[in-house]
Amino acid sequence: MSNKKLWSGRFNQPTDAFVEAFTASVEFDQRLYQYDIQGSIAHAKMLAQQAILTQPECDVIILGLEQIQQRIEQGGFEWSVELEDVHMNIESALTNAIGDAGKKLHTGRSRNDQVATDIRLYLRDEIEVIRSEILRLQLALLDMAESEAETILPGFTHLQTAQPITFGHHMMAWFEMLQRDRERLADCNKRVNIMPLGAAALAGTTYPIDRNYTAQLLGFERPSENSLDSVSDRDFAIEFSAAAALIMMHLSRFSEELIIWSSAQFGFVELSDSFCTGSSIMPQKKNPDVPELIRGKSGRIFGHLMSLLTLMKGQPLAYNKDNQEDKEPLFDTVDNLKGSLKVFADMIPAISCQHDAMRKAAMQGFATATDLADYLVRQGLPFRDAHEVVGKAVARCVEKRCDLADLELVELQAFSNIINADVFECLTLEGSVAARDHIGGTAPRQVLAAVARARANLNGSV
Ligand code: ARG
Repeated sequence: MSNKKLWSGRFNQPTDAFVEAFTASVEFDQRLYQYDIQGSIAHAKMLAQQAILTQPECDVIILGLEQIQQRIEQGGFEWSVELEDVHMNIESALTNAIGDAGKKLHTGRSRNDQVATDIRLYLRDEIEVIRSEILRLQLALLDMAESEAETILPGFTHLQTAQPITFGHHMMAWFEMLQRDRERLADCNKRVNIMPLGAAALAGTTYPIDRNYTAQLLGFERPSENSLDSVSDRDFAIEFSAAAALIMMHLSRFSEELIIWSSAQFGFVELSDSFCTGSSIMPQKKNPDVPELIRGKSGRIFGHLMSLLTLMKGQPLAYNKDNQEDKEPLFDTVDNLKGSLKVFADMIPAISCQHDAMRKAAMQGFATATDLADYLVRQGLPFRDAHEVVGKAVARCVEKRCDLADLELVELQAFSNIINADVFECLTLEGSVAARDHIGGTAPRQVLAAVARARANLNGSV
């Protein structure tokens, strides 16, 4: 079997051995093989339809490519660095297998439009997988939100106790972020799913190709409009990476909460043993490794976004070899994003809420101070004055080391004589959350309604 370079016609000297390895991409782009073959089969069919290839030539090419795919999948394909990349490895294997017809496959195309097509086919598939992993995580959050719709914990701003909220409401906040993430990927896919094939090296090709037909065979929305643009830009990959960075940012924040919540000091949740590890020296430890690792992985994914932006910023039109550097950041983004989503979706149902600890924490830090102010407003006091009155009452509680609900009615009345015995209802945690009873509010009733709306929406859209 010869590994003669497919472009070596004008060369007199062999490639420097180090340069050969340095410029090769086969080590990482071989993972595109199925898309490369899929693209080649569609290209061959189009060439035959246009009578650029004969039907027997097309048939033997397709059969040859299918056999190569099988060989790759069975581990019997030998990738060669001398043949530089996935495209030339497969083309050369095809020619070795079927002879001259194999040499005709590259008619009217270039590796430049070929690689751009491969990446788009790959990314289109991965976007679908990622979107379904996000959905799985969302469904886990809906179940959790439903079963913990009445569970009360302190809500924070500045990580200081702010107002009581329900755990279900908190889960639905993450649900919403993931919903936008999933939509963003669907939107990104509109620009991914455009076919570059036919742009050839940069200017198009002199053969009477039918790009609509190839696009249709490959399930692309349409062929791209401009050949130079098609082979050179990687904005679709950058856009995907930006969407991935946002997802990881969300997962990282969520992880941060799980890490804090599972600490002995908070104790709001218990992570299942299967998602934690121990310490080799401290026997008491159960570390939240999974959320920590996801928080950590967000860094490399943000980095890949920067890599890709920087990769493109200095490139004149059209294709430049720089673009070969798009793959590793993109693949690593896909792999780590998928992994993070998978483990998160598996982990959520395995979280157990520690209701007592949440409740105890919600009782500290004057979480119902705003409710007292709202009570005074309902009694006719302007909000700013009510704020002042409650501030004084809180200061008194700080002195006495007690909560607002622990003050006697007479003590409260010392701050404002419009306070009556019914005030205690709104100082309870249940009263506080139940009162926020509007779309987007934390009342258990609203959480259940939000879950129901979300389920209906998902059923409508998935
Ligand atoms: N391995 C190359 C890449 O990933 C394929 C395209 C190479 N084209 C070229 N003219 N050298 O971008």
